[in-house]
Amino acid sequence: MVIASLFKALCLSSCSSPLQVVRPSGKKVFNVRRYGAKSDGKTDNANAFTNVWKSACARSGSSKIYVPKGTFYLGGVEFIGPCKNQIEFVIDGTLLAPSNPRDIKQDTWINFRYINNLYISGTGTLDGQGKQSWPLNDCHKNTNCPKLAMNRWDNITQQQNGTLNFFSVHHFNITGVTVTAPGDSPNTDGIKFGFCSNIRISNTNIGTGDDCIAILSGTINMDISNVKCGPGHGISVGSLGKNKGEKDVNG
Ligand SMILES: *[C@@H]1O[C@H](CO)[C@@H](O)[C@H](O)[C@H]1NC(C)=O
Ligand SMILES: *[C@@H]1O[C@H](CO)[C@@H](O)[C@H](O)[C@H]1NC(C)=O
Ligand SMILES: *[C@@H]1O[C@H](CO)[C@@H](O)[C@H](O)[C@H]1NC(C)=O
Repeated sequence: MVIASLFKALCLSSCSSPLQVVRPSGKKVFNVRRYGAKSDGKTDNANAFTNVWKSACARSGSSKIYVPKGTFYLGGVEFIGPCKNQIEFVIDGTLLAPSNPRDIKQDTWINFRYINNLYISGTGTLDGQGKQSWPLNDCHKNTNCPKLAMNRWDNITQQQNGTLNFFSVHHFNITGVTVTAPGDSPNTDGIKFGFCSNIRISNTNIGTGDDCIAILSGTINMDISNVKCGPGHGISVGSLGKNKGEKDVNG
């Protein structure tokens, strides 16, 4: 990390765009390894990922962020827009969450916010290491239960509290995703939507301890096809009419 930052600082004054590769398509590729990310499964790559994101997001042409094969440990990271361009995020490696949920210093393990034109794909895995935190999830009987991180975003395994959570996201497709958590894991909704619109979910496998797909307040126009659910509680529309400001679910 230190070496990578130093290299970057040096190059800001003396080189031109040293850390990016321009492909014939004109899309710049930002490989996380070139920003100091290490796939040893234990170095926290949060800063490297944040720096890659900032560079890609600030660029005016379109960008591709690339996570190659390997296990990249991530303590927790937020990718925040708006960005100047379209971003493609390709994950071919494994992103590994801390095994102790208390080591995630934010509400969500990986959080994408305020971004237009984001395209996430790849053959990789997001491993939430939920096994260690499920025993801590006793909120159904303990009001002082610890808060567990939740993930907002593709081959996802073992999330700690809810797997893919979409809030106020519009016009998007989810396809070819596999979500796995055991049937006895608590509160592990597969994909959760609130205040979202125009969503298409297809060719997706979800195994979980709670709802496979949970459609919550304010969700409009959703098309679900070829989704295999199990274990899990199915596809549910729910928790409506409980809190103030809740909106109907339509379409
Ligand atoms: C997800 O993981 C499953 C099982 O490991 C694998 O068969 C599938 O190809 C993966 N899908 C993607 C899109 O990476
Ligand atoms: C899971 O996430 C939801 C929504 O953020 C939160 O209300 C709940 O307290 C979390 N549960 C645990 C066990 O952390
Ligand atoms: C989602 O998929 C549909 C059908 O394939 C396509 O018409 C639409 O443009 C896609 N939307 C996005 C945001 O990619």
